[in-house]
Amino acid sequence: MSSQADPAKVMKQQVGKAAADRVQSGTIVGLGTGSTTAFAIQFIGERLQSGQLKEIKGIPTSFQASVLAKQYGIPLTTLDEVDGIDVAIDGADEVDPNKNLIKGGGAAHTREKIVDALAKQFIVVVDESKLVDRLGESFLLPVEVLPMAMTPVMRAIETLGGKPELRMGVKKAGPVVTDEGNLVIDVKFDGIDNPEELEKTLNNIPGVLENGLFVGVADVVLIGEIKDGNPGVREM
Ligand code: A5P
Repeated sequence: MSSQADPAKVMKQQVGKAAADRVQSGTIVGLGTGSTTAFAIQFIGERLQSGQLKEIKGIPTSFQASVLAKQYGIPLTTLDEVDGIDVAIDGADEVDPNKNLIKGGGAAHTREKIVDALAKQFIVVVDESKLVDRLGESFLLPVEVLPMAMTPVMRAIETLGGKPELRMGVKKAGPVVTDEGNLVIDVKFDGIDNPEELEKTLNNIPGVLENGLFVGVADVVLIGEIKDGNPGVREM
């Protein structure tokens, strides 16, 4: 690794490349969202341009993913046009030892869960900073909500012991608006003991579209790391 390289960026690049290398010709590929998956999309595009990879189609999980796919020459399709998804590659904000995840740091978790859960194989790409013993101790859990239901959903979340806050935009006055035109409530839980139950309980509140707990969805977790100054990738 060069002395000037940003270690986090190097880990993301390495793990993005490792995931892109697993994509096979003639497959439908779910394209995730975030800074780590962006490298995977770039490397898939480079494999296509070099002729190493042929006839793949991408299903984007966000506006960001579709812009990147177009930039790197990956043909896109929709869920209406395909029978299924062979492999999905996506990042995560937290990963626990059971491969359960918190996602939604980029407000794309609703579409991500649709695509990642449909994939025959879902490959998670993270750097080692994302590994935790218990979900939700530091990262706030994102919940996408219909705008008209914001206040009752926040009250319902408080009765579950969570501290909700509306996600606000950066360089934009007012709240973050998702690709689907909804709002995101970030919830502090101080650790989540039963992610499977909480995922269902939150999605049962009227007005909630989807929350960022991904329980039992990930098949493979690839972890970018730097050991003794050398970047590498290991599989959980
Ligand atoms: C998008 O909503 C998220 O689920 C991302 O996949 C997640 O935040 C990981 O992003 P980074 O790879 O940028 O950390």
